[in-house]
Amino acid sequence: MNQANVLPCLPPGKNPALRVVPMPADANVHGDVFGGWIMAQVDIAGSIPAVERAQGRVATVAVNSFLFKHPVFVGDLVSFYADIEKTGRTSITVSVEVYAQRMRQSNEIVKVTEATLTYVATDDARQPRVLPAL
Ligand SMILES: CC(C)(COP(=O)(O)OP(=O)(O)OC[C@H]1O[C@@H](n2cnc3c(N)ncnc32)[C@H](O)[C@@H]1OP(=O)(O)O)[C@@H](O)C(=O)NCCC(=O)NCCS
Repeated sequence: MNQANVLPCLPPGKNPALRVVPMPADANVHGDVFGGWIMAQVDIAGSIPAVERAQGRVATVAVNSFLFKHPVFVGDLVSFYADIEKTGRTSITVSVEVYAQRMRQSNEIVKVTEATLTYVATDDARQPRVLPAL
């Protein structure tokens, strides 16, 4: 694999919110990683900048978009990059990009998934809470 074609796939200068290696228990009946596993990790990764911005608990209110562009394989090193796109009065919308490094094959890095989710800052009674000033 030509490294020049592979390495630029990673977002430059960014740290992943989450990195994880899926196990055989995370596979579907065909042996590839189950989409629901990827969705759960995306939700966790997206919540990290949301919790930081909200300075407290948040709840996922909406999955606005979700695109599985390429499969994830058991043993891939999967990196989740999460960025706040916009904030409202109580809500935080986060985009998440997912890259898989094919550790058991060519080491190629592939963008596998992109998604946008909205979180709401909540109080102890689980009701919407106004975001703190920056
Ligand atoms: C999240 C929750 C507390 C929000 O309460 P709510 O009464 O529906 O809230 P509101 O209608 O006042 O909306 C709150 C914010 O969410 C936004 N919102 C609501 N529905 C939305 C949707 N479908 N898409 C995007 N944003 C949405 C509103 O625009 C508002 O944002 P703003 O304050 O920045 O303008 C409530 O819906 C809830 O508890 N949902 C279940 C959460 C959950 O269990 N998630 C899974 C596990 S974390």
